[in-house]
Amino acid sequence: GLPTSDLSCARLGVLGGSGLYAMEGLEDVRELTVDTPYGPPSDSLRIGRIGDLEVVFLARHGRHHTFTPSEVPYRANLWALRSLGVRWILSVSAVGSLQEDVRPLDMVVPDQFIDRTMQRPLTFFGEGLVAHVGNADPYCAVLSRVLGDVSDSLMPEGRQLHRGGTYLCMEGPAFSTRAESELYRSWGCTVIGMTNHTEARLAREAEMAYATLAMVTDYDCWHAMHDAVTVELVIDNLRANAALAQQIVRLAAERVQALRPPSPAHQALRDALMTPPAQVP
Ligand code: ADE
Repeated sequence: GLPTSDLSCARLGVLGGSGLYAMEGLEDVRELTVDTPYGPPSDSLRIGRIGDLEVVFLARHGRHHTFTPSEVPYRANLWALRSLGVRWILSVSAVGSLQEDVRPLDMVVPDQFIDRTMQRPLTFFGEGLVAHVGNADPYCAVLSRVLGDVSDSLMPEGRQLHRGGTYLCMEGPAFSTRAESELYRSWGCTVIGMTNHTEARLAREAEMAYATLAMVTDYDCWHAMHDAVTVELVIDNLRANAALAQQIVRLAAERVQALRPPSPAHQALRDALMTPPAQVP
């Protein structure tokens, strides 16, 4: 089973995506190599402090960006965080926009997903232990509100923070076709990325509250007046927003410790177990 921990001293995990391979402002940083039943995580974990809060940073693609979204060892990453006492996770991710009014360099704190991944493990359960966690609201509303408030207060003139929205998670690594991009728009999706749904699912199963700061880098490939997404475009816009993202994460972290009561996500397994306790391996 997953180790439990006292919520009053729960740690904050920060999952850095493309363009965010380290976290600034962490004090007394130690580096930890963790092994898990799912093998090693994407990289060693860096534990430090922001004020009184202990923060664990992990670069989801590895610090040199060596894992594709399909190859990221999500279960190992989430297990490693939970084993270190993490109960809150801030995820920072580059996304494409599927809506006109969500512009490159804007930020989105999404509240829903549609999953279009097809070749990655999505659960810690199976092999004798069956549980179905609730997933109607896959992001933690408590943590998302903090992230939204902090981002709103720091957004520069002319750039917008969007609260809520649907994150379409695709498999990748190639970007979408125009027909796919239009399909996701017709579904009402707000942004598109390749990693967050998988993390959010596993975080929920491990009773960790999860919220995302989605940094908009491009209009994917649907927009008639903008070039289709390229890695160059993504990286240029991430660089332009990196300092802001670091600031947002730091300020949000300062507010996490004061979050009471805890999130419903912290009790996700309470009514989720199908296997009778006596049968649990
Ligand atoms: N990450 C950043 N931009 C993206 C896009 N257009 N599609 C998928 N993932 C992305």
